[in-house]
Amino acid sequence: MSVVPIGDSRQKITILSLLDKKLHHEPITALTAYDYATARLVDEAGIDVILVGDSLAQVMLGYDNTLAVSMEEMLHHTRAARRGTKRALLVADMPFASYHLGADEALRNASRFVKEAGAEAVKIEGGEKRADIIRRIIDAEIPVMGHIGLTPQSVHAMGGYKVQGKTLNAIEQLMRDAVALDRAGVFSMVLEGIPREVAAMITAEVQTPTIGIGAGPECDGQILVIHDMLGLNFGTPAKFVRQYADVGAVMRGAVESYKNDVIAGGYPNDEESYHLPKDTRAALETILERKRGMRSGD
Ligand code: KIV
Repeated sequence: MSVVPIGDSRQKITILSLLDKKLHHEPITALTAYDYATARLVDEAGIDVILVGDSLAQVMLGYDNTLAVSMEEMLHHTRAARRGTKRALLVADMPFASYHLGADEALRNASRFVKEAGAEAVKIEGGEKRADIIRRIIDAEIPVMGHIGLTPQSVHAMGGYKVQGKTLNAIEQLMRDAVALDRAGVFSMVLEGIPREVAAMITAEVQTPTIGIGAGPECDGQILVIHDMLGLNFGTPAKFVRQYADVGAVMRGAVESYKNDVIAGGYPNDEESYHLPKDTRAALETILERKRGMRSGD
C-alpha cells in the first residue's frame, strides 16, 4: 500500500485530513459549487472542501434570500456537484426548516443528503441551540460542519445581514456557540461575518478547524461563494470578497459577439457546417439538375 502524504493534491480529502491540516497549520481551502462542471473545475484545481451552499438559492435560482430553497432543490444540486467531485470533501448545506422542526426530521433530512445525493457531510447554521440536533446527526455517522456568526438563514431574526460579535456580550455568546459546536463534535465550523480578532480567539480555543468567510486571516481555512470570487453576481459584493476574475464580463462579451455574428450571417461558416459525402453530393446535384430541366421544359 502506498501512503500519499498530506498536501499531495491526489489525496482524497476526509474530515480527518482537515483536522490534520489544522494540527500542521496548513490552510484549508473551500469554495461553493452547485453543478457538475463547476464542481469538477474546483475539484481538479485541488480545493479541499466543496460546499453545496444554500447560497445557491440566490446565485443559481434567483431567490431574494436563502430561506425559500427546498430540500428537493438542494438534493438536485448536490447530486450534480457529486458527479463532478472526486478528491474534495463534499458538504451539503441543510436548508432553512429542514432541521428546525425536531431532531427526527433533521436526521431524516441529513440522511437524504448522504443516501440520495452522495454528500459526505452536512452543514447546519447555529451554535449552542443546535448542539443537540447536531449531536444526534453525528451519532448517526453523518459528519456535521457548524456555522456561526452571520448566519444567513437568520436574516429576519438578525434584522439584516450584519457583522456579528461586535460587543462584549455578543463575543461571549459566540465563544459559547463555538465551544458548544466543538463539544458536539463538528468536524469543522464556518465563521461568517465576525471581527477577525474574535475569529482568531475562537480558532485558538476550539479543536475543530475553523473556516472563515468575512472572518479574517487567522481562521484555519477560508471559503467563498464561487459566484462572488468569479464576478458572476449582480449586486455589490461584501467587503471581504476578493474578485479573482470577471467571468460575468467574459460571458456578456461572448454572448454579444455570438448574437452579432448570427445577425450578420457570420455564424456558422462553412467550416462549422457538416457536408454531404462527395458521391451523395454529386448524385443529389444530378437529381436537382434533372428537376430544374423538367421544370424549364428542356
Ligand atoms: O451557503 C453558503 O454558501 C454558505 C457559505 C457562505 C459558507 O453557507
